[in-house]
Amino acid sequence: MNTFQLDGAEVPFDDGDTLMVAAVRAGRHVPHLCWHPRLGQSGACRLCTVRVDGRLAAACTTRAAPGLVVENRTPDLDGRRRMLVQMLFVEGNHFCPGCEKSGDCRLQAAGYELGMTGPAFEEFHPQRPVDASHAQLWLEFNRCILCKLCVRASHEIDGKDVFAIGGHGIGTRLLVNSPSGLLADSALAPDDFAAQVCPVGAILPKRRGFAVPIGSRRVDVEDAAADAIAAADAAAPASEPDDARR
Ligand code: SF4
Ligand code: FES
Repeated sequence: MNTFQLDGAEVPFDDGDTLMVAAVRAGRHVPHLCWHPRLGQSGACRLCTVRVDGRLAAACTTRAAPGLVVENRTPDLDGRRRMLVQMLFVEGNHFCPGCEKSGDCRLQAAGYELGMTGPAFEEFHPQRPVDASHAQLWLEFNRCILCKLCVRASHEIDGKDVFAIGGHGIGTRLLVNSPSGLLADSALAPDDFAAQVCPVGAILPKRRGFAVPIGSRRVDVEDAAADAIAAADAAAPASEPDDARR
């Protein structure tokens, strides 16, 4: 089997694997926010940026090749990741102590994992709406990190195209595909994959926010990196061929 080097360890891969897919299958953690084993590639968050033969590249979109030398968890790369996470925190309104997703949030977990101790940049404090129109789901635009997971999940798995990304630059935002632009008038249902895939507290079920007490949630009790590997393993459709996981 072909292999590449990841932080000095040989990682086997199949033809067509990305660095991320091969790394996760080998039980190696590459920090990520917008990659999901059931969904197509996006390259939206850049948290998975590694050095491939000395050049920066996104692990979730770069194909593995024999003999590549990939650096992943170096102080330089983790420092860049920490800065990305700090920028995401100030771009939206992320108040972890009051958020229903605290302890089960990939952005918060990345902050812990990467040693983020403060925002580092001036907070934007944007004024964004909350869409509470749906009977069973919240859409909290203040927490959206524009990872496009819900967009891809709705298109690729649910076949509904409920979500899209619109606008440019600082005005980029998540859009709801419905006549009114409100979630209540969309085709989104609570058991849709798009309603369950959000890595932060932007799409949440109503009336279940504190069913598991804060302090005993996944990332409250697990190492964030180990939890990310376990979550990717659990989410990957085991019976499907590798091609379906890309
Ligand atoms: Fe990503 Fe959640 Fe925003 Fe959708 S609502 S783009 S899943 S952060
Ligand atoms: Fe690779 Fe987001 S996980 S760019």
